[in-house]
Amino acid sequence: MALFKKVWPIKLAIVWALLTANSLLVQAQDFTLANNCPPSFELVAIQGQEPVCRLVNLYQFYDSVQNRGVGGTQTSLPAHRDGFTPAQIDLGRFLFFDPLLSKDGSISCASCHQPDKGFSDDLDRSIGITGAKGGRSAPSLWNVAFIDKFFWDVRASSLEEQAQGPLFDPLEMGNSPAKLLTSLKQNVSYVNMFAQAFPNKKALDLEQVYSALAAFQTSLISLNSRYDRYAHGHHQALTENEVKGLNIFRSFVARCAECHQPPLFTNNQVAVIGTPEPQGREFDIGAEKTFAHVNNSQKLRGGFKVPTLRNITKTAPYMHSGKFEKLFDAVEFYSKGRGHAVPKSEQLQLHWHIWEPDLTNEEMQHVVDFLGALSDESLTPKIPAEVPSGLPVIDEKYQNVTRGLPR
Ligand code: HEC
Ligand code: HEC
Repeated sequence: MALFKKVWPIKLAIVWALLTANSLLVQAQDFTLANNCPPSFELVAIQGQEPVCRLVNLYQFYDSVQNRGVGGTQTSLPAHRDGFTPAQIDLGRFLFFDPLLSKDGSISCASCHQPDKGFSDDLDRSIGITGAKGGRSAPSLWNVAFIDKFFWDVRASSLEEQAQGPLFDPLEMGNSPAKLLTSLKQNVSYVNMFAQAFPNKKALDLEQVYSALAAFQTSLISLNSRYDRYAHGHHQALTENEVKGLNIFRSFVARCAECHQPPLFTNNQVAVIGTPEPQGREFDIGAEKTFAHVNNSQKLRGGFKVPTLRNITKTAPYMHSGKFEKLFDAVEFYSKGRGHAVPKSEQLQLHWHIWEPDLTNEEMQHVVDFLGALSDESLTPKIPAEVPSGLPVIDEKYQNVTRGLPR
């Protein structure tokens, strides 16, 4: 009897070990990566290589921006990133939603770039693992495949470089390269998934993490809004007021399309437009800091990246500082007079297209109406039901904190 008592816990331990090993195996099998491209991409075979996903869309049939006049509707898109394999895109999706990427497993990329909020959050400034607000508002990630400068102050020049910002910023995900790599390598599912997505690589490394995140983000394409249908010739796609708004947007009075150039609604440039900081916040010098090593960097003082206006109704509050709650307020900013919000102590070199269009309330409302027609979320990717770390994907705790509710 005494012997039985001694052996029994050992037996239990063995059964437990078998069970956990088994569940690890099940986990590893559960995360098979896609072998098809997301919608809007076609799988293209390249000799001697894995087939890759190439973007297909109607704008590819139009000529370049040249000869069409700025703001013309049937203009082509700038160069874009694609050519990732289905497995790489799908691995990036799991990584994007997995809180394992943060130091304490509390937040993922999707905490601040939420699919139902235009891949932004509803905060003026995002909140990282410390619970404190960071310096700026989270931009939308729609159509990042077409941009070549990242962050409001354009301090990163590729998606791969950009990802290292939030991952290792103590105020955002707070991780370290060594810890991130170790936690991925300790996860059987991830080891298998990386091997599947990068079959030519010997071992899992951080370059593959950045690359998979880039692959996933470049699949976030939004080019099929009612505006696009209008641009492709379906004139019924916009209401009368939206067409009025579009015409004001493109007019030489408002000049919005000079910077928010269709079809992306950004020209991928930096512009100094003089948006205000919220009360009590220090003046944000923006791109001046990024170009501090270059002559004349003071020209870019207060300069920010021209953001896309696609899915803009989803990404309030607006501007780098999240100062404007409503789209109308953001539009009204342009009509309140050149430099009206620039602090007296600042001498900014405002862009010459920032003027005083003196739009009426009705005209501004038409512009807002028009901006609403730039919504297309039809290619929103599937949020994984589970991620390899087993951590909760939809982090309600985090979202409660951001709403000022108890955890
Ligand atoms: C704590 C919130 C937070 C988390 C977590 C976060 N981001 Fe961001 N993201 C931001 C903010 C805020 C900015 C803008 C910062 C700036 O411009 O200085 C930003 C900017 C970006 C940009 C640049 C977009 C553009 O138009 O310039 C990309 C791309 C991006 N994030 C992707 C990611 C990825 C990938 C992850 C996960 C590895 C991630 N983010 C995690 C808040 C976050
Ligand atoms: C000279 C270039 C330029 C012109 C002209 C311009 N914008 Fe902008 N726009 C910008 C820049 C730069 C920002 C970001 C500024 C910041 O964050 O401080 C911006 C931000 C915005 C935003 C907020 C986007 C977001 O994601 O937060 C909206 C909305 C907007 N512009 C609409 C318009 C409208 C409407 C017009 C015409 C009345 C217009 N813009 C004209 C450069 C321009």
